[in-house]
Amino acid sequence: MGDPPLGNTILGVETSCDETAIAVVERATVVRSSVVSSQVEQHAEFGGVVPEIAGRAHVRELVPVLAEALATAGIDDAAGPDGVDAVAATTGPGLVGSLLVGVSAAKALSLVWGVPFVSVNHLEAHLYASFLEEPDLELPLVVLLVSGGHTMLVLMEGHGRYRLLGSTLDDAAGEAFDKVARYLGLGYPGGPAIDALAADGDPTAFDYPRALVQENPDTLADDRRYSFSFSGLKTAVVNHVRNEPEAPSADVAASFQAAVVDALVTKARWAVEATGAVGACLGGGVAANSLLRDQFAGMCNEAGVRPFVPSRAMCTDNAAMVAAAGWWRLQSDGPSPMDVGADPNLALPLIN
Ligand code: KG4
Ligand code: ZN
Repeated sequence: MGDPPLGNTILGVETSCDETAIAVVERATVVRSSVVSSQVEQHAEFGGVVPEIAGRAHVRELVPVLAEALATAGIDDAAGPDGVDAVAATTGPGLVGSLLVGVSAAKALSLVWGVPFVSVNHLEAHLYASFLEEPDLELPLVVLLVSGGHTMLVLMEGHGRYRLLGSTLDDAAGEAFDKVARYLGLGYPGGPAIDALAADGDPTAFDYPRALVQENPDTLADDRRYSFSFSGLKTAVVNHVRNEPEAPSADVAASFQAAVVDALVTKARWAVEATGAVGACLGGGVAANSLLRDQFAGMCNEAGVRPFVPSRAMCTDNAAMVAAAGWWRLQSDGPSPMDVGADPNLALPLIN
């Protein structure tokens, strides 16, 4: 860095799962447009994302979403002097057939418009959602990243410099929400349904297990301290409902949600206390959860660090966060080679 910034106007493309999203973002701070076309209704009857349907829907949606994103941003001639300076796309992790649609489109646009292509890690994009809304966040920062596929606590020491503190040993938090919701007959996606139902329930009605959460973090082995586990909780809820079918589902939802949030916030607090971070933020779809947002902010205030909780639209999958992460990657690494492919298992680049 230090040189003049490369490309100010970034077009972001996100097709890693079941949202076709394209955004135009200026210097990772100003969102000129952010269009998200969700396929939720197409997958709902199957109770989860069907990869084949997702890939085909991205093909259908991509061009209309692109047209709307450019029009909303007021860009008539993307290749012109007031057009797009670089095209960033999520190359992983995600569903390969979905990723390929966005990556191929982004490369084609970069060639046609004669601008750089930038490969973006979807997890890094979730981290940058916070910077997009709050550019003056100070580092080091503890980030709790909770999505449908991932649950991790990361210490962000600098831009692009991530230390993994811990992650889930089994199900991701969002996956647990989706599976429990499915069992309760709440449909897909489960997180928002449980969030809504829990509002009318008693979170103390049932005492579901909180795995790997002790009073004192020092009683846990170093490699387990920041680890999560939600599969036992999911089984406990399912067994309970099977044995006690008359248990009010609002109480089940509220008690389950309280157990997930308790584990997430407790470990985030330990991380804040142990690392000397000056702030903490949330990312990923589960960060849209009402209880998590409240408790996370409360924990930060008690611990004396600055909390940042992105808007709900910025927590779930969108392309503005991809464009923002792409801008930072472009500044640090320059354009990506055209032979970077879609990688369903792409990992967050770590320094540990
Ligand atoms: O980040 P995201 O949009 O996609 C992935 O990258 O996975 O996260 C989707 C996950 C789903 O599991 C969904 O149930 C969960 O986020 N989710 C929520 C809420 N809204 C979305 N979980 C709990 N409460 C919510 N309000
Ligand atoms: Zn995501």
